[in-house]
Amino acid sequence: MNQPVDAFWMPFTPNRRFKAAPRLLVSARGVRYTAADGREVLDGISGLWCVGAGHGHPRIREAMKAQMDTLDFASNFQVGHPGAFALAERIADLAPEGLDRVFLVNSGSEACDTALKIALAYWQAVGQGQRNLFVGRERGFHGTGFGGISVGGMTLNRRAFGGAMLRSDHLRSTWDPANQAFVRGQPQTGAEFADELETRIVALHGANNIAAVVVEPVAGSTGLLIPPLGYLQRLREICDRHGLLLIFDEVITGFGRFGDMFASQALGVVPDMILFAKTVSNGAAPLGGVIVHRRIHDALMQGPEFLAELMHGYTCSGHPLACAAGLAMLETLEQEQLIARVRSLTPVLENAVHGLASLPGVVSVRNLGLAAGIELAVKDGQPGLRGAMAQAAAFDFGVLTRAPGDTLILAPPFVSEPEEIHQMVARLASAIESTF
Ligand SMILES: Cc1ncc(COP(=O)(O)O)c(C=O)c1O
Repeated sequence: MNQPVDAFWMPFTPNRRFKAAPRLLVSARGVRYTAADGREVLDGISGLWCVGAGHGHPRIREAMKAQMDTLDFASNFQVGHPGAFALAERIADLAPEGLDRVFLVNSGSEACDTALKIALAYWQAVGQGQRNLFVGRERGFHGTGFGGISVGGMTLNRRAFGGAMLRSDHLRSTWDPANQAFVRGQPQTGAEFADELETRIVALHGANNIAAVVVEPVAGSTGLLIPPLGYLQRLREICDRHGLLLIFDEVITGFGRFGDMFASQALGVVPDMILFAKTVSNGAAPLGGVIVHRRIHDALMQGPEFLAELMHGYTCSGHPLACAAGLAMLETLEQEQLIARVRSLTPVLENAVHGLASLPGVVSVRNLGLAAGIELAVKDGQPGLRGAMAQAAAFDFGVLTRAPGDTLILAPPFVSEPEEIHQMVARLASAIESTF
């Protein structure tokens, strides 16, 4: 394929290196991509944690085509279209009790900035506008908006943009290599890492200055950091004690990946808002949103009735094509019982990836639901170098993975066959070996 590659400035990509040897994907079906040179590449990362139902799912394709034939675009500013309402109702039905108001956006980053704005507006509405400090967590990822990088804790994502942050502080991450390096499921130790919220952060800033605590129930983008048993429960208890809002970023955990519709349900902790994106549309259209507790929503339903209650939204919030994809995806999850399938595939992935622990240079293997992280020893004192090498090699061996830092992630589509998961892990093993 002779595609010029200069003009497109690629996101989150070492552009110069990529363009020297482009890796182009030209088509996809099920759990397989086809590369430009005709090679098959197994999709070990569900596109980018999106494609749970597999690529080119017929129900989603047909729904999007039908939508295109009927209504290609209608804004949701002062008019509306049925798809957005239907999707929001459906999501509200699936969400934990009490969270039943849904603001639609186009991405996880927009979902994060939207949730932070809702939190600030809520505190103003209830007469506590001084609460404007956000608490995030080291190694957290909440997208790339200014709100998201403020509460996020990935140093490289913040470094170049340092001056323009919201007021924030950060909890330590839950990662504890001495006790968690080779753990199946949730670590038994580390619940006490949550206590810092009370003993340091509330103590330092004062609860009545803090708007919200924002965490991923399971952190994905910094290499699958799994919450210790009891950790999220403790965060919830501390938030309740001090009246802080708790926001779960479920952009990768929402819609099935951890064996329940939301990680909130899988792990038994209900936040005040949930951010979602990715799997909600199976990646077929940009779609995200914030599920908001009714009490927060209702507190904002005030002021003159001819004025919008929240001055916020995007031209494509609740775009008809995205809503059609979302509704079809939710139907697919239900009809094909894909979340039960995630539960049955979890031990298959778990056993396969823990088999990699004996490879030279593997320093950690961790897994939860249909996701696993395999961490490799740092090469030549340069964190991320071995991960980047292994990720590139994996593509050449025929499996798509992601390597935040030196951790290779596997998060296969929910429709994968056990045999395909074994193939993904075997190809990953070859890639890892090739870097030593
Ligand atoms: C937890 C989390 N939040 C937010 C985002 C940002 O989503 P988007 O890239 O759709 O803006 C991501 C993306 O990977 C994510 O993993």
